[in-house]
Amino acid sequence: AVELNPILKPLSWLLGTWESDEPGEGTFPTIKPFRYTEKLHFSHVGQPVINFTFNAFHAESNKPLHRECGFIRIQPGTNKVAFIIAQNSGLVEIEEGELTGNQLKLQSQSLGRISFAKEPHVQQIGRVLQLRPDGKLEQTVSMATDNQPLTQHLSITYSRSS
Ligand code: HEM
Repeated sequence: AVELNPILKPLSWLLGTWESDEPGEGTFPTIKPFRYTEKLHFSHVGQPVINFTFNAFHAESNKPLHRECGFIRIQPGTNKVAFIIAQNSGLVEIEEGELTGNQLKLQSQSLGRISFAKEPHVQQIGRVLQLRPDGKLEQTVSMATDNQPLTQHLSITYSRSS
């Protein structure tokens, strides 16, 4: 195995594969609440960068739904973290924020989308990823769209599967 770049040490708790233990909950004022499962994978190749994929599925049918992939960087010597993300919906985003202990709190800094992205368009994203004392990983995502203020869209917890 390639040795972890020491710059990534503060984020090493993310590395590996995670699976939702119970379905996550999706909500938003404009949609019907839904349940989903999700697999996360965080890896590295020795660079000061984490590579990740998030793959979500319909909780009942197992049909693939939302997918994201990207990179995570940390500004050396600081607790400033950046996520560089591409989503299958046609959205790309930069999120930045801070690492405090085992909690990452991020806000979108820039969003881009394909010309034929579905409306309403997302205008802002907030995300919290944290390792809980019980060893589970928790993720919550909030978003603002053209017609809704920043409101929670996703909440889910994962157990490490490898
Ligand atoms: C709906 C964005 C992640 C499942 C939506 C809508 C937006 C959105 C803008 C439409 C809201 C409206 O009509 O007012 C995002 C963003 C995500 C994300 C930015 C990640 C940062 C996910 C994930 C799932 C998911 C992980 C898991 C399956 C859904 C479903 C709907 C929805 C089922 C309602 C039906 C639909 O519009 O397709 N999302 N979403 N989303 N999202 Fe997400």
